[in-house]
Amino acid sequence: MGDGGIRVCLVTGATGAIGKAIARQIAGRPDTEVVLACRDEKKAGQTVREIVETTGNPRVRYELVDVSRKASVQALAERWRGPLHVLVNGAAVTPRRRQETPEGIELQLATNVLGYLWTIQSLAEHLKRSTPSRVVNVASYWAGDLDLADLEFKRRRYDNNQAYRQSKQADRMLTVAFAERLGPCGVSVNACHPGDVRSALSNNLGFGGHQTPDEGARTPVWLALEPIGHEQSGKYFEQAQAVRCPFAADRESVNELYEACLRY
Ligand SMILES: NC(=O)c1ccc[n+]([C@@H]2O[C@H](COP(=O)([O-])OP(=O)(O)OC[C@H]3O[C@@H](n4cnc5c(N)ncnc54)[C@H](OP(=O)(O)O)[C@@H]3O)[C@@H](O)[C@H]2O)c1
Repeated sequence: MGDGGIRVCLVTGATGAIGKAIARQIAGRPDTEVVLACRDEKKAGQTVREIVETTGNPRVRYELVDVSRKASVQALAERWRGPLHVLVNGAAVTPRRRQETPEGIELQLATNVLGYLWTIQSLAEHLKRSTPSRVVNVASYWAGDLDLADLEFKRRRYDNNQAYRQSKQADRMLTVAFAERLGPCGVSVNACHPGDVRSALSNNLGFGGHQTPDEGARTPVWLALEPIGHEQSGKYFEQAQAVRCPFAADRESVNELYEACLRY
């Protein structure tokens, strides 16, 4: 806990459908401070105003960051002051055509996978100083197709659905890698499927979504604030239930993926 028992929570993807609902639900709880990690300043400002207005919590602000770029994430960590009790990773994209970051990394890998890894790595010291603290990786049940020899779709024909499934499999696997490394330091790391929600991301994949953003935010917020998020680590949850994750069970591939990601 921070000064006066305030829980400081950082949420990436907080201008999106589910991320905004996560940030609002956390801000609606007593003694929380919520920092929205956003790339678009105008949307960020609007979202902060909306959340302050609806929750009455004045402790809501934003930080600008492009999670697909390592230097941007590292800059956020360098200017971070004070405790960090909860990191929720949710920023993700599903472009229909293959795109690369200015550094030349395929965009879904850079945002959906390396973005999660870089935020955890860069903010790890702050999390370790704020124990017990936790990381919640918003992943998906829509996961699979990981090719460790072709993480950037250079050999395979790019397909946004396949690249997305790969990225969400990777998020679930990296959750285990980080849980092992950060657990001894008092930081728990879990992953979850949120809900099926209509959004820019799901529209690109051809999905409608039958749940509201608030329903979609329920499991991530439960892991972010309830004791379960400390009691468990390295686990994958759907609808507030731990579910066995076959990807996480393959420790050799988990380590191979983790090492491959560290090379970026
Ligand atoms: N929707 C579903 O049914 C569903 C199902 C399973 C899992 N999920 C997961 O839930 C999470 C949220 O998805 P969503 O459906 O709410 O998507 P969304 O509405 O499209 O929101 C995506 C968010 O990520 C942000 N973002 C993208 N690239 C970024 C970057 N480089 N730097 C910083 N922020 C960036 C977007 O910012 P801008 O507003 O600036 O674009 C937006 O805030 C994702 O991790 C997704 O995989 C969603």
